Amino acid sequence: MTARITRLTESDWRAFAVIRLRALADSLGERDPQYQKEIAFTAAQWRRRLRDHAQFAALTGDRVVGLIAAQQESPDSIYLYSLWLDPIARGQGLARSLVAAAVDWARDQRVRTVRLRVATDNSAARAVYESLGFAEAAVAGTVEPRDEVAMSLSVS
Ligand SMILES: CC(C)(COP(=O)(O)OP(=O)(O)OC[C@H]1O[C@@H](n2cnc3c(N)ncnc32)[C@H](O)[C@@H]1OP(=O)(O)O)[C@@H](O)C(=O)NCCC(=O)NCCS
Repeated sequence: MTARITRLTESDWRAFAVIRLRALADSLGERDPQYQKEIAFTAAQWRRRLRDHAQFAALTGDRVVGLIAAQQESPDSIYLYSLWLDPIARGQGLARSLVAAAVDWARDQRVRTVRLRVATDNSAARAVYESLGFAEAAVAGTVEPRDEVAMSLSVS
């Protein structure tokens, strides 16, 4: 499957809303509070999300099959979250391309570090992150939940 990675803009909010809700339903279930919160988002809230966070998508044709979000958390660091691939698009290296696009963007923002959290038992995601150079790194003053690890990558 040929795919391309692109950054979504505010005008993509409808397609973003559809795939984001699918990702939340697939990962957390429709009863999860985060799903319940976002399914009630207005157009203005979806647009604001796309303004405030950099949202990258993997597309096959004009169909969005994967997402990752990046958020500036301090002048020195960017936080990646919500990596998700449509089950039909998994196992083809698209997750790696998405994370790489977000890391390239972070480098352009001139931060020192890209950070993320991943479930300890999520071997597929950890393999993607490790293949791009991310390593486990405790954050000073932060205690991670026991089932998650913090990872970071130096980009300066
Ligand atoms: C995690 C996820 C994004 C991975 O995307 P993907 O495109 O399916 O990734 P791949 O299948 O290409 O696998 C990536 C790597 O993990 C490896 N891998 C896959 N499943 C694995 C498993 N169960 N155990 C160990 N390694 C595994 C693959 O071999 C591959 O390594 P390689 O490139 O060296 O061959 C995808 O499974 C997903 O969307 N899961 C649900 C949401 C999620 O967990 N997101 C991460 C939140 S931090």
